[in-house]
Amino acid sequence: MEKLYYPHLELFPNARIKSMDEYEALVQEFEKDYEGTWAKYAREKLNWFKDFEQTLDESNAPFYKWFVGGKINVAYQCIDRHLDSKKNKAAIIWEADNGERKVITYLELYKSVNRFANLLKNKFHIKKGDRVVLYMPMIPEAAFAMLACARIGAIHSVVFGGFSADALRDRIIDANAKLIITADGAFRKGKPYLLKPTVDKALEEGCESVEAVLVVKRNNESINWVEGRDYNYNELIKEQSSECEAEIMDSEDPLFLLYTSGSTGKPKGVQHSQAGYILWAQMTMEWTFDIQDNDTFWCTADIGWITGHTYIVYGPLAAGATTVMFEGVPTYPDVGRAWKMIEELQINQFYTAPTAIRMLHKLGADEPKKYDLSSLRILGTVGEPIDPAAWKWYYEVVGNGRCSIVDTWWQTETGGHMITPLPAATPVKPASATKPLPGIFAKVIEKDGTPTPIGEKGYLCIVKPWPSMIRTIWNDNERFKNSYFGECVYEGKPVYFSGDGAMVDELGYITITGRVDDVINVSGHRLGTAEIEGAAKKHDAIAAIAVVGKPHEIKGESPFAFVVLKENQESSNEELLKEVNEIIKEEIGAIAYIENLVIVPDLPKTRSGKVMRRLLRAIAKKEAIKQDTSTLEDPSIVQAIETIVKNS
Ligand code: WT7
Repeated sequence: MEKLYYPHLELFPNARIKSMDEYEALVQEFEKDYEGTWAKYAREKLNWFKDFEQTLDESNAPFYKWFVGGKINVAYQCIDRHLDSKKNKAAIIWEADNGERKVITYLELYKSVNRFANLLKNKFHIKKGDRVVLYMPMIPEAAFAMLACARIGAIHSVVFGGFSADALRDRIIDANAKLIITADGAFRKGKPYLLKPTVDKALEEGCESVEAVLVVKRNNESINWVEGRDYNYNELIKEQSSECEAEIMDSEDPLFLLYTSGSTGKPKGVQHSQAGYILWAQMTMEWTFDIQDNDTFWCTADIGWITGHTYIVYGPLAAGATTVMFEGVPTYPDVGRAWKMIEELQINQFYTAPTAIRMLHKLGADEPKKYDLSSLRILGTVGEPIDPAAWKWYYEVVGNGRCSIVDTWWQTETGGHMITPLPAATPVKPASATKPLPGIFAKVIEKDGTPTPIGEKGYLCIVKPWPSMIRTIWNDNERFKNSYFGECVYEGKPVYFSGDGAMVDELGYITITGRVDDVINVSGHRLGTAEIEGAAKKHDAIAAIAVVGKPHEIKGESPFAFVVLKENQESSNEELLKEVNEIIKEEIGAIAYIENLVIVPDLPKTRSGKVMRRLLRAIAKKEAIKQDTSTLEDPSIVQAIETIVKNS
């Protein structure tokens, strides 16, 4: 059996879960009294304006409700309740691309968020339930804006700054947003870049619901200004009072939407609620990250993704911690940037993606040794499976063989960690997410609920509802039901299916094997192949296209396209790839660029016309075809495509 890595317990004297026995005891507690245990934590951890009456309402499954009747405010939970004991503690340490730093204390955060909230209310008449889209760089105002929305009960939808105008427009329209908050731009690798022009372009058509655009000035580049629509944050904020009462919210009122990719074309507005989400954001900070009062926590995600929501903003602040927010990239001005930040800020928990780890490893395998990284206790990874080689480098070189590595499996839909080692308890097997957190009933099963035998691939399901779970897809209850509760059944009941495959080993540890649907994971970014295909089809010469994921050394996966040209059309693979990527840049953003493209005479289709994607995945990987091809309409096509790929 593979070697297990045990925690260095001296690093975790105050851990909440100190051993596997304590872990098992908690799991048992949830098993014996599921609702009672969740209720206990909810009452212990959250500041309620009014206690809840019912812990879990399953009467309208899968539209589960948690902590029904409770009244709460998430901004209050993240800020106000800490003011008595830590008003002068750093809430956010922001580091700019050029190394400049700002420390924002809890009291300062309170004032900034209140001013922002007053601005939203007074100037833009934003009310409880209104949707506000954020298209922001990594600057403190992004966090202020999220918390200001939470404070007044508005629903934010943060759109990642790498998305194109078209992608932004789709999300604005789907959410019927009233206000857009953006910035002129920001800095990356020493140079200014712009965001506002993308907002202008998005608003050119179809966004009738948008009344105003609030612009934070970050780099003072010259930008277009629409009188009567665009407003200068830096001026307006000065007039606002730093007191703003927190709106009394129901546990189940929506807190935010976050769009993510599914297996069909249109992105899904994943809807999260108030109490359940913030409870789990806070508890996972305590359990997975062993957050302590004097810690400095750094998650490198962008706030445009769920990791940035839960582990830069909501989780750390709910836990009263100090969270680091970074505008730049870890390779600028050189490949030691991240290690330098860890040394200077004495970071205790560092949380990043396997893509970043592989890149930093490749570009500077010995670089971490030049810095004093002894403040680190926990190294986290998230977003994609981590390969054992990257894991070992992270453990041995970055963590100097003593830090606990937490390989956290979760999703936009789960709100917070689901399967992860506990830093002071779990003996870790490299590249395994190990065990579900207490309270999370994750199982690897067949579609009918039969447990998958040890070592075999099955469907990763969560068989009981949990507080921070997705509530629905914005405006699309049917799609919510079908996407997540339409595939797998456990003990006779439809259960949440993640879209991931997984395997259980003889220790009961879960290893994630990756998506089993048509979603691919490129540099930790989740992309629907249908979305990429939809964009590419706008090219005039393309008759049909199938995109699959191909393993990539740094990015994890990269999109590989098989294209059939229309009759009388001609092109080369290189030329077409360039043109198609231009379209993808417009429609989605550069994050979805196709890496390889081959023009083929036809796609492998069954007699009923279904494209056999599994075959294409194997061909893209240059694997020998093991699948049965006899059901194909034209079996000879497989060999023809294989030859083309071999010669490409
Ligand atoms: C998908 C969710 C969760 C925040 C970042 C991504 C993959 C996530 C792991 C992990 C293997 C992982 C899964 C999942 N994934 N964490 N530790 N090991 N795979 O959020 O964009 O919603 O993507 O990321 O495939 O379904 P997301």
